[in-house]
Amino acid sequence: MSTPQPIRDIRGTSVPAIGYGTWELEGDDCFTGVLTGLELGYRHIDTAQAYGNEELVGAAITASGIDRSEVFLTTKVWNEHLSAESVKASVGTSLSKLQTDYVDLLVLHWPLDEETWPARLGAMADLVEHGAVRHLGVSNFTPPQLERALDVAPIFNVQVEHHPYLAQPGLLELAAKHDLLFTAYSPLARGEALHDPVITGIAEARDATPVQVVLRWLLDESEHLAVIPKATGREHAEDNLGAANVYLDEADREAIAALDRNERQVDPPWAPAWER
Ligand SMILES: NC(=O)c1ccc[n+]([C@@H]2O[C@H](COP(=O)([O-])OP(=O)(O)OC[C@H]3O[C@@H](n4cnc5c(N)ncnc54)[C@H](OP(=O)(O)O)[C@@H]3O)[C@@H](O)[C@H]2O)c1
Repeated sequence: MSTPQPIRDIRGTSVPAIGYGTWELEGDDCFTGVLTGLELGYRHIDTAQAYGNEELVGAAITASGIDRSEVFLTTKVWNEHLSAESVKASVGTSLSKLQTDYVDLLVLHWPLDEETWPARLGAMADLVEHGAVRHLGVSNFTPPQLERALDVAPIFNVQVEHHPYLAQPGLLELAAKHDLLFTAYSPLARGEALHDPVITGIAEARDATPVQVVLRWLLDESEHLAVIPKATGREHAEDNLGAANVYLDEADREAIAALDRNERQVDPPWAPAWER
């Protein structure tokens, strides 16, 4: 029997803890992927202006017949929108592509040009006031950057790369302190973690798949945490939801935590270096 997936309660908003990532999903892989994901029970979909697939995501949600209010939908503002006007216009375009009049979460995709944050985050906050957006997030922010963003706008979410090879302790602590949703992107380390002997060993012992072990480990870390693995095809999408049924003990969790090597799979689009 399958366990319902965990739901995070962040300031009274329910967020399904296993979302469906859509980066690099195009054409029918995207439309059918999102539609199949919704059929399987996913109710949290992650897209972005930069992914070029908002139209397909919107079409799949509409085709599913599932009430819009049941889906937690995220999109992200891309780096070219540096003024308030440009941010607002881009979100209007996103909403029309997504066939909806609001998104649950609007995320600033990258922290470039800090001097533009007041204009960009301010415009995003205006969109919350006008009902086009329910919550605001920031992505790829370091702990000091997140603390500065919290002074600028009512941030609800931080979305960053996080998996067994990249522990992100500072951001997890800030998420708990400020009651933020922490979204772990590339939670499978883009597939890298699935061949790790520690992970495959635990998977064998627990009669689970390596993906389920990685996702369960992440979900056990914090009540604030959601994962958004990307899956092409029904088999992977179903496998990933099965993380809800896996049990890990303290020794398993410690063994996976020891894999941390502060290693990223995703670099900023403009430069290879990270401010640590
Ligand atoms: N905010 C940001 O800047 C940012 C950056 C990166 C990612 N993201 C978000 O996070 C999502 C996930 O990250 P990601 O796509 O980079 O990587 P990921 O989810 O860590 O890994 C995806 C890889 O794992 C494979 N996979 C998924 N389920 C599997 C299964 N059950 N068994 C075996 N392999 C499996 C996928 O293969 P198949 O495709 O063949 O299933 C794909 O190769 C993205 O789609 C996007 O929504 C956000």
